[in-house]
Order: sequence, then structure tokens, then C-alpha cells
Amino acid sequence: MKLFLIGYMGCGKSSLGRKLAKRAGYEFVDMDNIIEEREGATIPDIFAYEGEEYFRTLESNLIEELGRKEGNVIISAGGGAPTWRDNMERMTAVGYTFYLRRTPEQIASRLSPHGRQKRPKLRGLNDEELVQFMRVNMAEREPFYARASHIIECSEMSDEAIIEYILSKLQSDEQ
Ligand code: S3P
Repeated sequence: MKLFLIGYMGCGKSSLGRKLAKRAGYEFVDMDNIIEEREGATIPDIFAYEGEEYFRTLESNLIEELGRKEGNVIISAGGGAPTWRDNMERMTAVGYTFYLRRTPEQIASRLSPHGRQKRPKLRGLNDEELVQFMRVNMAEREPFYARASHIIECSEMSDEAIIEYILSKLQSDEQ
């Protein structure tokens, strides 16, 4: 069983995914980390030296590869992955997709300076520019994210409540 966590940068896919995997006894995979390890370069460097198109190709190939993976696995997908070519279809064809939805304001307040710095699209933006950029960019991405098998309105929920919700959905879907 494969479960993809999708949503905007900084919505908590990796930290929630890690906790969720522990609770459910599943393997955890972070797509960004795998790409960085395999390339031997950070995401900002991959964007800077190889370009976004190159990164997106790596991402699509990785989704394809993960789709063939055996066993129970929780996958934290990069924020832009669902919006590229047929990635959303590929993910929904092989597993569940949970969209962690949050407001731009909430994400801005969650993102540390380091969290902004390590994301090429958010680098160098001040608080006001960040919210402004995310409003536009999130609205463009929303139609892709909204094709998820499950949408979670995370803004008012604790991490624990989000994890419980996903676990309960998995149990009811498996019956
Ligand atoms: C991106 C999101 C990042 C990473 C890259 C591009 C995006 O992943 O893949 O910086 O376009 O939304 P996270 O969502 O894990 O930050």
C-alpha cells in the first residue's frame, strides 16, 4: 500500500509523514531527500545548475519507480510534483493521495529562515512577498492538489489529530 502526502511547501508532509510511518509501522520515503542523495547535490544547487525541468524529470521518474515498490510505504512528495505532467494520475493510480491543505498565512508563519532558504522558489522573499507569492502560486496549484483521494483542512488541526485522521481513513478504506 502506498500513501502519498501532497501539498504546498512547508505544510508538514515530511514531519507528519515520518511520525505517521512510525505509528503505522510503514516505511517512510522523502522524495526530496532521495533526489538530493542520488544527485549528491542540494535542491537549490540542482535548480541552479541543472534547471527546474531537470529536477522535475527526476521527480517524475522517482514517482514511477516508487509506484513499483513493494510493501507499505508513506511518501512525502515535493510540493510541485503533483502539478507536473501526469504525476497526479501516476500517484492516484498506485496509491492513496492525502492533500494537507493550509493557508498561505499559516505556512508563512511555519517556515523558518532556513526553511525558506532551502526552497529555491521561496529564497530571498520577505514575509509580505512570501504570502503574496504563495497566494498566487497556491491558487495555480490547487486544481492539481484537489484531485487527491483525501483532502485534509489542516489549519485548525494538531499534528496528532491529522495523524489520527489519516490512520482512521486507511483503516476504513482497507475494509
Ligand atoms: C518545490 C517543493 C520542494 C522541493 C523543491 C520545489 C515546489 O519540496 O521539491 O524546492 O515547487 O513546491 P517540499 O514541498 O518538500 O518543500
